[in-house]
Amino acid sequence: MANISRKQIVLGITGGIAAYKAAELTRELQRKGFDVQVVMTRAAGSLVTPATFQALSGKPVFSDLWDPRIADNMGHIELSRGKEAIVVAPATADFLAKIANGLADDLLSTLCLARECPLLVAPAMNRQMWDNPATRRNVERLLRDGVNILGPGSGDQACGEVGLGRMLEPQEIAEAVVMQLSPKLLRGVQVFRADRRGPRHHQPQLRENGVRRRTCRARCGRQGKPDHRAGHPARPGGRRDHARRDDRADV
Ligand SMILES: Cc1cc2nc3c(=O)[nH]c(=O)nc-3n(C[C@H](O)[C@H](O)[C@H](O)COP(=O)(O)O)c2cc1C
Repeated sequence: MANISRKQIVLGITGGIAAYKAAELTRELQRKGFDVQVVMTRAAGSLVTPATFQALSGKPVFSDLWDPRIADNMGHIELSRGKEAIVVAPATADFLAKIANGLADDLLSTLCLARECPLLVAPAMNRQMWDNPATRRNVERLLRDGVNILGPGSGDQACGEVGLGRMLEPQEIAEAVVMQLSPKLLRGVQVFRADRRGPRHHQPQLRENGVRRRTCRARCGRQGKPDHRAGHPARPGGRRDHARRDDRADV
C-alpha cells in the first residue's frame, strides 16, 4: 500500500542490460523518501524478474496495458497521476526512439505520453547505439520536448567495448532525481534540464558528437566545436569554467 507521507514516483525499466541496476536504484529512491511504483517493458522482464521489484517496492509491478489487475483498465493514465516524476532507467535506444516519436504501444510508453509530471530518462546502451545518428536525433528531440536526460556515462560496457553509453550509477540517478525535483538545489550541478537550458553548447550530448555547431555566446563567440574550449582563458575565482563542468556532465 502507498505510504502517502512519502513522495510517489514511477520507475520505468526497459530492456537494457543495466536493468539489474534498477534494483539498487529502487532502494536509492526509497532512501531519498520516494514510494516507488515500478513499470517494466516486456524486454526488461526478460532480463530481470518483476518479483524482485515487487519485493523491493512492496507494490505490484505492471508491464501490460491490458493487465486485468487494473480495475478500470486505465493504468496507462492512472499510474502516473499524483506522481512527482517518471524516471526511466535504464532507457534503451528503442525506448528513446519511441517516446521521441510519441509512440504508445506498451504500458510504459503510453504512461510517458499521458503524463502530467516531469520525465527523466537515463540512457544505457552500446557506444555505437548511442552514437548512431538516429539516437542523436531522438535525444535532440527529447531535449526539445522537455525530457531530462541523465547521462549517459562513459567506461567499460557489458558488450566488452569501451565508450559513452553506460547508465549512470543508481546513486547518481537518485541524486539527480532529487535535484531535478528541487530546483533551488540545481545551481552548479551536472543534471541537464531540458526546460532550463544554459548556453546551448552546455548540452553534452549534442555538442560532443558534433550534431550541431553552436556559437559559444557565453564566453568567446566562437563556434561551439568541442576543441575550441581549450582556448578559454582561465579565470580563477571568476565565473566557473563551464567547459570543465561540461566535461563532468559527459561521464
Ligand atoms: C541481453 C541483451 C541486452 C541488451 N541491452 C541493451 C542495452 O543495454 N541498451 C539498449 O538500448 N538495448 C539493449 N538490448 C536490446 C533491447 O532489449 C531491444 O532493443 C528491445 O526491443 C528493447 O525493448 P524496450 O525498449 O521495450 O525495453 C539488449 C538486448 C539483449 C538481448
